[in-house]
Amino acid sequence: MTRPDDDARLRVVVGISGGIAAYKAVGVVRGFVLAGHDVHVVATEAALRFVGRPTLEAISRNPVWTDLYEGVAEVRHVSIGQSADLIVIAPATANTLAKLAAGIADDLLGNTVLASSAPLVVAPAMHTEMWENPATVANVAVLRERGVHIVGPASGRLTGQDSGAGRMAEPDDIVAAALAVLLPQDLAGRRVLITAGGTREPLDPVRFLGNRSSGAQGVALAEAARDRGAQVTLLAAHLEVPAPHGVALRTVETTAELAAAVADAAAEADIVIMAAAVADYRPAEVADSKLKKESMGDEFALRLIRNPDLLAGLTSGTLAPRRPGGQVVVGFAAETEQDDQALLALARAKAERKGVDYLVVNRVGWQEGFGTGRNAVTVLDRAGSIVGEAAGDKLSVAHRILDVLV
Ligand code: CTP
Repeated sequence: MTRPDDDARLRVVVGISGGIAAYKAVGVVRGFVLAGHDVHVVATEAALRFVGRPTLEAISRNPVWTDLYEGVAEVRHVSIGQSADLIVIAPATANTLAKLAAGIADDLLGNTVLASSAPLVVAPAMHTEMWENPATVANVAVLRERGVHIVGPASGRLTGQDSGAGRMAEPDDIVAAALAVLLPQDLAGRRVLITAGGTREPLDPVRFLGNRSSGAQGVALAEAARDRGAQVTLLAAHLEVPAPHGVALRTVETTAELAAAVADAAAEADIVIMAAAVADYRPAEVADSKLKKESMGDEFALRLIRNPDLLAGLTSGTLAPRRPGGQVVVGFAAETEQDDQALLALARAKAERKGVDYLVVNRVGWQEGFGTGRNAVTVLDRAGSIVGEAAGDKLSVAHRILDVLV
């Protein structure tokens, strides 16, 4: 991830209460630090029985606060909360949830929360019986009502031999959910269809023609759209990165399968973003059994047949005749051209040829674009004018692309 510039750098308070999942809070702290934010840990006395202060100080790169009677001259019991942009409590024990619901301020964490107007994100962790206890259920309902964001808990193996609901959500998911709370919900109610990855065309049962797309930019777009409130469908062709939670996922193999899936899903999408690298050709024949060198000889010519252009088919109405009015269609163009002006000329011609509303252009090469966490793109509109530019990690590039669409 790139470090956000100073404006985007958040002051995040991570509250840790005393449950065994406190050891995983180190991952939460680290996630915010790696995302470039300024992290201040407020741990309860009980939390420090589970995880060491030096660990938290090393990872957060700031002192860890616990005691209500430390830093009194700086009025620390309220100043930490007042200056926070975001408060995340992970793990939140049943006791902490109860105290939060009642507004109890008998420790530094309670004071910090009460003194803050920042969004509060809480990741509960406890045994299933405690999570399902009517007292906890009522406390969680009160917190939700008050606008507190509850992340998890997940179901799974608990501390003892038991398993069930109550496991703290994974640190990366907590960080992502917490940062999403601060995003504008400017895609709320929108249905966004995204294709990602690269289609593969089989030659025989063990071989295929494919491309180097990892799907990372398409997945980042799906995450960004989801976090901004969209209802996302992701058509995934051979992703090399994990698919995001909270989106409707359909996997496809070939261009023909992707075509069918796009035709189906585009009928109910307000925005279609075609980030997948689509195989332009497929072998004329697909062998039923493995091709053998004895029959192929020293030279072997492969006859290929052109696949249809899905994007052009979509915009011309031949692929999916029933599309919602006003649907916005976004194409991608990955080009190896090194000269900036020549690259733009290629892209403008492609935007026109494909009839898209927007075209996202990026340069690819042996070392560029594919498989890296970063990207640099230029966004053109239908007329070929530059309407956006972004460079950075793929998630921030995804947000800049969505900014243009919004
Ligand atoms: N695309 C598509 N169907 C195809 C090929 C590409 O829908 N058969 C889409 C891609 O998803 C992408 C855009 O078209 O959004 C541009 O893909 P690209 O491979 O750059 O374009 P091509 O038409 O294949 O042009 P080129 O001759 O440069 O390969």
